[in-house]
Amino acid sequence: MSLIQTDDFSTATIQALFDKAQNFLNTPTVPSLQDKLIITLFFENSTRTRSSFEIAAKRLGAQVVHLDVDKSSTQKGETLLDTVLNLDAMNPDAIIVRHAQNGIPKTIDEHVKAQVINAGDGNHAHPTQALLDLFTIQQHFGKEHIKGKRIAIVGDIKNSRVAHSNMELLARFGLDITLVAPSFFMPQTTFKNTDNLRSIIDDVDIIMSLRTQTERHSDVYTTPQEYAKEFCITQELLQKRNILILHPGPVHRNIDIEDGVLADARCKVLAQVTNGVAVRMAVLEHLIA
Ligand code: NCD
Repeated sequence: MSLIQTDDFSTATIQALFDKAQNFLNTPTVPSLQDKLIITLFFENSTRTRSSFEIAAKRLGAQVVHLDVDKSSTQKGETLLDTVLNLDAMNPDAIIVRHAQNGIPKTIDEHVKAQVINAGDGNHAHPTQALLDLFTIQQHFGKEHIKGKRIAIVGDIKNSRVAHSNMELLARFGLDITLVAPSFFMPQTTFKNTDNLRSIIDDVDIIMSLRTQTERHSDVYTTPQEYAKEFCITQELLQKRNILILHPGPVHRNIDIEDGVLADARCKVLAQVTNGVAVRMAVLEHLIA
């Protein structure tokens, strides 16, 4: 079984994964994947996701091979599919792939024996990011209390795979989603939406701030400073309100979230990163143990 998008996992499976992830946070080293081989194949830059997957795999005792795409034979004219078929011929248990083009992980999955895990494709999906976001929300509010919690997803939603995966997952778990973005970053959906963050600030329990995906659009819609005036999460905006602040990273400081808010106890950006390893350990075990 592979993981291409969040709805590949049932609600019951996700709850079971979260119970496992919680155990991994308490007891980080369990060598349940000792005989397994995992390949990471990243055609786009990554800090958190790649290291998180590799640490998760190593904590479970798996062998990890990272293919350096810039030095691989795709640079010599080999097609992506041939590269992947050659890797698969070495019998890895899983291939973790990130690509700028929507649908590449699914296409790879249709051609290989290994389990495929989507580590982000274009603006389509980033399932493990959404899982770790939901896990972080559940950790904060408690499992029984997430239903009905109001979340504002703020920023370049249209071009964000993190937003697209979260819209499916968080809605399925009963969260009340409002999309907050300027018109040029707002996708067509059935969710509530506004371009006025201030107008809804008293009606949210969680804010998920997102980076402007400058690599996915060549048009310059606005300057970062103009954007920040309306959409940056500032202390002046939050005041003493009890709002959980999330961001998948990389953060554009003082554009997405102000320095003071990043240092505030309400901001769980680094807890998300810690939780990401535990959630990915649970996902890897579930898919290949
Ligand atoms: C995100 C990504 O690459 O999709 N980062 C991440 O994986 N934590 C978000 C982003 O690049 O803005």
